[in-house]
Amino acid sequence: MPHVARDLFQKCREYRDSADARAQGFYPYFRCIDETQGNYVVCEGERKIMIGSNNYLGLAHDERVIEAACKATRMYGAGCTGSRLLNGTIKLHVQLEEALADFLQREAVLLFSTGFFANQGALASLTEDGDVILCDRENHASIIDGCQFAPAKLVPYRHNSAVSLRNRLRRQPAEAGKLVVMDGVFSMSGDIADLPPQLEAAKEFGARIYVDEAHSLGVIGPKGRGTVHHFGLNDEVDIVMGTFSKSLGSMGGFVAGDEQMIEYLKHRARCLIFTASLAPAVAGGVLKALELMQKEPERVEQLWRNTRKMHEGFKRIGFKIGSTQTPIVPILIGSEARAFQFTQRLYEEGVFATPAIYPAVRYGEAIVRTSYMATHTDEDLDLVLEIFAKLARELGTFDDPAYAEPGKRKANVFDFRLQDPEGEDALRETARVAPRNGAGVHPAVSR
Ligand SMILES: Cc1ncc(COP(=O)(O)O)c(C=O)c1O
Repeated sequence: MPHVARDLFQKCREYRDSADARAQGFYPYFRCIDETQGNYVVCEGERKIMIGSNNYLGLAHDERVIEAACKATRMYGAGCTGSRLLNGTIKLHVQLEEALADFLQREAVLLFSTGFFANQGALASLTEDGDVILCDRENHASIIDGCQFAPAKLVPYRHNSAVSLRNRLRRQPAEAGKLVVMDGVFSMSGDIADLPPQLEAAKEFGARIYVDEAHSLGVIGPKGRGTVHHFGLNDEVDIVMGTFSKSLGSMGGFVAGDEQMIEYLKHRARCLIFTASLAPAVAGGVLKALELMQKEPERVEQLWRNTRKMHEGFKRIGFKIGSTQTPIVPILIGSEARAFQFTQRLYEEGVFATPAIYPAVRYGEAIVRTSYMATHTDEDLDLVLEIFAKLARELGTFDDPAYAEPGKRKANVFDFRLQDPEGEDALRETARVAPRNGAGVHPAVSR
């Protein structure tokens, strides 16, 4: 009797979500950029204002950063062709680690090839069986996924709520090792972590504290040092993680902490040991970007002028922008279909942004996620506001019941086979989060 195995690829053949969205003319992902100067891109021969990038300080396109990346390539080659542990450590890696440790006032720093790996490497290596990781419910996917590699139990708590955190901490075995993890600035809502009371709760229960500064570096805190410095709590927070894929205009990530902890990670984090190190161009470019970020504080100041202008501008038009306090400005649309339609019309009008839907945001609270840069001009921003106002009128955004009562509407024309939203928390409460690579997850959500 021949062995008949289930066809693993059947689900791929049945997969229709993106094709359906394309057929309706609303597919917003994987748009190809032919040219870019940062605040502008050219797609399909047309210039668009970019408001969907995390290039907060415009450093990805700074000539000095580009030159440093080229110089590093000429000096060390196009790649390191090996892991840090073996043959892939170059002087630029060590210099970048030292520069970051100095900037963040930490004993030591360890680079990873992406921010995603930095979270995965740290969370998986620092916890053991019987430990507990307490996670803000709106933490980034790399934290949630990192927890899947960790032997610890994952316990979510209500977004930015010290009360919820304390309640969850109270229910854990007293002797369990505990790690509280939160984004410093949340990637979808733009909220700043309410760090002081959460830190107090963590301390009360002997928990270590870990802050992901991906969206806060170069954005908040003195000289852009991040959320932990913004609150003056650098000495109290055990671990800080960050990325180079946002303000520092490149890719890669890092973990910062005390020397002994970094030494341990260097020899335990599998996604450091078994992957190639940061390319020389990346390390050279980031080193220069870090230097410029400190030398040119006017970039951060301009970023905040632009941020305030957009917060006020969107509110004046009548948009709901949630509780954002940062350059990440989520524009609530409500239903997913309308968020896709709105984004498509933006694109046609010359504005590049992307929608975020469940599970990147709460169910029924689809947004157009926008983010601003120091290099946006007043003209760019005025035009963006004008186009948003025009489209809100054209598409009846404010008259949509899903806008008035976000979260209540269940209709979803693209049928992404969403999971029961009530079931989500139950799922996350389990010792390990079930992999979300199937039903309910749109392929292109970013959180
Ligand atoms: C909060 C947060 N942490 C980590 C990451 C992962 O960073 P990277 O893009 O460097 O892998 C991201 C990226 O979007 C993020 O928003």
